[in-house]
Amino acid sequence: MKILILNGPSLNLLGKRNPQMYGKHTLEDIQSALNEKAEKLDIELTFAQSNHEGELIDILQKNSDCSGIIFNPGAFTHTSIAIADALESIEIPTVEVHLSNIYAREEFRSHSYVAPIALGQISGFGLSGYLAALDLINGYLLNTND
Ligand code: DQA
Repeated sequence: MKILILNGPSLNLLGKRNPQMYGKHTLEDIQSALNEKAEKLDIELTFAQSNHEGELIDILQKNSDCSGIIFNPGAFTHTSIAIADALESIEIPTVEVHLSNIYAREEFRSHSYVAPIALGQISGFGLSGYLAALDLINGYLLNTND
């Protein structure tokens, strides 16, 4: 079972970027914690990050063979109909993840174009949110493939 872990704009700067908001973990820290967990669950992970809307769409389309997606679209969460459409077209179960609690911040962050297409959303738990997403998508896929 292959799961795509996709991160959007400026998430490559985690660790340095507003650590009070996003925590001190780097994207590499998140990826190694996910890899450690994936090994135990016998899941193969593919990681990608891009700062560009079109490239995120290309990555989604190129990975249409994966069983599930864990996706933090960053600021595109709140702006991108194109990313939401791409996600809808590939029809792959997706968990939307945010490090910060997007509902406790500026009003514009409370709207997600991705949320109605996702299986569900985890927001506000930092690195642990990605690990929880992996557990949840694994459980979901095991149940639906029974
Ligand atoms: C974010 C929340 C977004 O509002 C913001 O633009 C980000 C990061 C998060 O993980 O908390 O880039 O997706």
